[in-house]
Amino acid sequence: MLHYSGDKKEEMKMKNKYRKSTTLRCDAGSIRLLSVVIGSLMGCILLLQLYSPISRKDTFIGRDIQLRTSHRLYFRELEEVEEEKIQIPPPRGKRSPRAAKRRPKRTTTLIDEFLDEDSPLRHKFFPDRKTSIDPTITGNDSMFYYPGRVWLDTEGNPIQAHGGGVLYDEISETFYWYGEYKDGPTYHAHKKGAARVDIIGVGCYSSKDLWTWKNEGIVLTAEETNETHDLHKSNVLERPKVIYNSKTGKYVMWMHVDDANYTKASVGIAISDYPTGPFDYLYSKRPHGFDSRDMTIFKDDDGTAYLVYSSVDNSELHIGPLTEDYLDVTNVARRILIGQHREAPALFKHQGTYYMITSGCTGWAPNEALTHAAESIMGPWETMENPCIGGNKMFRLATFFAQSTFVLPLPSYPSLFIFMADRWNPANLRDSRYIWLPLMVGGLVDEPLDYNFGFPLWSRVSIYWHRKWKLPKGWNLLK
Ligand SMILES: *[C@@H]1O[C@H](CO)[C@@H](O)[C@H](O)[C@H]1NC(C)=O
Ligand SMILES: *[C@@H]1O[C@H](CO)[C@@H](O)[C@H](O)[C@H]1NC(C)=O
Ligand SMILES: *[C@@H]1O[C@H](CO)[C@@H](O)[C@H](O)[C@H]1NC(C)=O
Repeated sequence: MLHYSGDKKEEMKMKNKYRKSTTLRCDAGSIRLLSVVIGSLMGCILLLQLYSPISRKDTFIGRDIQLRTSHRLYFRELEEVEEEKIQIPPPRGKRSPRAAKRRPKRTTTLIDEFLDEDSPLRHKFFPDRKTSIDPTITGNDSMFYYPGRVWLDTEGNPIQAHGGGVLYDEISETFYWYGEYKDGPTYHAHKKGAARVDIIGVGCYSSKDLWTWKNEGIVLTAEETNETHDLHKSNVLERPKVIYNSKTGKYVMWMHVDDANYTKASVGIAISDYPTGPFDYLYSKRPHGFDSRDMTIFKDDDGTAYLVYSSVDNSELHIGPLTEDYLDVTNVARRILIGQHREAPALFKHQGTYYMITSGCTGWAPNEALTHAAESIMGPWETMENPCIGGNKMFRLATFFAQSTFVLPLPSYPSLFIFMADRWNPANLRDSRYIWLPLMVGGLVDEPLDYNFGFPLWSRVSIYWHRKWKLPKGWNLLK
């Protein structure tokens, strides 16, 4: 039994009622002025909070002050708006079928160029292997993220962890990055099928510094022969995420499992005693009896974990708590973002508020990200705005030509996160790139959606475009 608690409309009605009753009765102009004043005040408060990372655990006052000073300088650097000026080349005779199909006759856009494998701008989106990020070379580029460049592991091979997520394992004090291992040929199963790579498995990489990644192997492998198995190579395994259950001492992986035509629309669950696997595949199901495609799991501070998935043909999301052992969903769930057609959810929490970044649904093509926020994880969730800052308009409207997959908190910087996204390369999926960028909560106050309301409810979530950036020094000292 599924208890869809409360009708969304009912909730909205109540919210609107509440809003109305708190709205000051005056003309629009003065409300606007008031909202600007209050907005600026809140902005100042948020900025102050942002610039003074709290380290409750830290007793080394001297180091703390030193770090605060460097934080302040560093945050300013991360918040610099970096523009991209890319000249779109003149229309060409031949364009790849993919680009031509999308926009038959009108002028080309940067997205068309992005989707065109023969575009002269190709190297801007998919820089040459020669520019790889290589952790074995400790030169001036050490510790710098270069979003979009090929990223090598410690053995010199491109990292294969697409649609992934990162687990911080407190036992080994190590970060583990799990994702789709896609190092196989891209093909179309049939004429109308999406570009795909056969399932190989879930790749796992370990790191202490979030930059140097050691390949821990394929921790959940495809099934080669048994065609009825969920993980038979002809099927689909996407967006694997792992959390640790401190009650059972198990590492639990959830993933989207599907057939090549995306009609199975289920979640799969696997389990291991170690973060580096091997993971044993348990089973798949349609959570709460609903179709489930893009998904993520989120472990809250109180140890309760939640599944979030796109459902009802990707028209809405569902969210619900997992059982205590994290191996199943419970019979409690809520429908959220109904009719908004969002996918690729990445959920995080900041100072008691829940945030989520999602993408639209346009297959492998990039589209506009949106931020959502909620006071309670079970909702109601409100949709805010596009979190992307910098680049240029097309960069922002295409999430820097990438799609959200995970938001990684950094324990010593309460308002700084790493936004992890995939720049899919549908012509050669194994060569899809990683876009890691700083995500900050606070700073500029979000534009109120509705001036009647007076002032904004939520802190703004901002993802800053950088061609090159690195984490603040000592980011992992205060853990
Ligand atoms: C590193 O930076 C220094 C100073 O900017 C420069 O002189 C040197 O050539 C750089 N080294 C490499 C390997 O790029
Ligand atoms: C093939 O996989 C199915 C589903 O997991 C399982 O029930 C069956 O026993 C497997 N067959 C063999 C021969 O392993
Ligand atoms: C997927 O759809 C195609 C075309 O509709 C069909 O030929 C094929 O058998 C389907 N494959 C699966 C695994 O359902």
